[in-house]
Amino acid sequence: MINGKTKVCGVIGNPVGHSMSPAIHNLFAEKTGADMVYVPFEVAEDQVAEAVKGAWALNLQGVNVTVPHKQNVMPYLVEIDEAAAAIGAVNTLVRTERGFKGYNTDAAGLGRAMAEAGISIKGEDCILIGAGGAAKAAAYLLAKEGAASIWALNRSLEKGKQLAEEINERFGKTMMQAKRLEDYGELPAGSYLAVQCTSVGMHPHTECAPIEDPAFYRQIHTGVDVIYTPMETRFMQLVKAAGGKAVNGLDMLLYQGIEAFERWYPDVKIDQETAGRARERMLEQLSARENGHE
Ligand code: ATR
Repeated sequence: MINGKTKVCGVIGNPVGHSMSPAIHNLFAEKTGADMVYVPFEVAEDQVAEAVKGAWALNLQGVNVTVPHKQNVMPYLVEIDEAAAAIGAVNTLVRTERGFKGYNTDAAGLGRAMAEAGISIKGEDCILIGAGGAAKAAAYLLAKEGAASIWALNRSLEKGKQLAEEINERFGKTMMQAKRLEDYGELPAGSYLAVQCTSVGMHPHTECAPIEDPAFYRQIHTGVDVIYTPMETRFMQLVKAAGGKAVNGLDMLLYQGIEAFERWYPDVKIDQETAGRARERMLEQLSARENGHE
């Protein structure tokens, strides 16, 4: 029941109509007893400063930030967390005494999703496909969690190289190198953990994968796709067909939300049952969308 003490959280983005965050966070509030409602806020590109200032003035408890504001929001924050600075994007605002502090929960969310799936990073030779926003979060996670090596494969070599340089500089050692996507055949023979961070294969282009060659997939023991529409991407199918294990990006999305909620409510831990219920809600929303009910 909304009352005089109820707090408000929300997500700013444009569009926000398909965001699954309201469903997830209102469930978390309900299950943990937090007196909070979470609502979508559509914010135009030239209104980001006003939105952050307004959210602060209205005493919003916490704010998520989604496309296209994840970078634009940064100048209006009083502090930026290390992971968010490294990734160069903010998706969660947390109140401090002076203003909002910006976090990026994508890397931590991916890390928790992988841990839940029994996928370890430490000492692994890794392949990162892509060099955009999602890839930056994944690269930061892999480096932070002690991957032995990271090969970035990207369509544009320059972007891959730049990401590798940033990571090597931040972590103080040469652990990441880049190659053109089509030069995957030049990677040292090995057994890799691969994280697919391009938009290739996403609905409606479900027949596509960034690389088709079965020989590439024979070198991958585990493939993580950050895509979750479809639930099983062609990349995942190719990994499985070559004998590897594959997971999609739904739990990354779920756990980035859990990480955000736990930052807004530091005394609260989302338990496995609630996480499972949130996953069901996400699946319900996705299937409603697929069936054209939304
Ligand atoms: P996101 O925030 O989802 O990561 P992004 O920052 O636009 O989105 O990054 C998209 C990634 O998918 C990039 O690595 C992009 O490659 P480029 O850096 O060369 O642009 C990659 N990508 C998108 N479409 C692609 C395609 N058709 N083939 C190969 N890579 C593609």
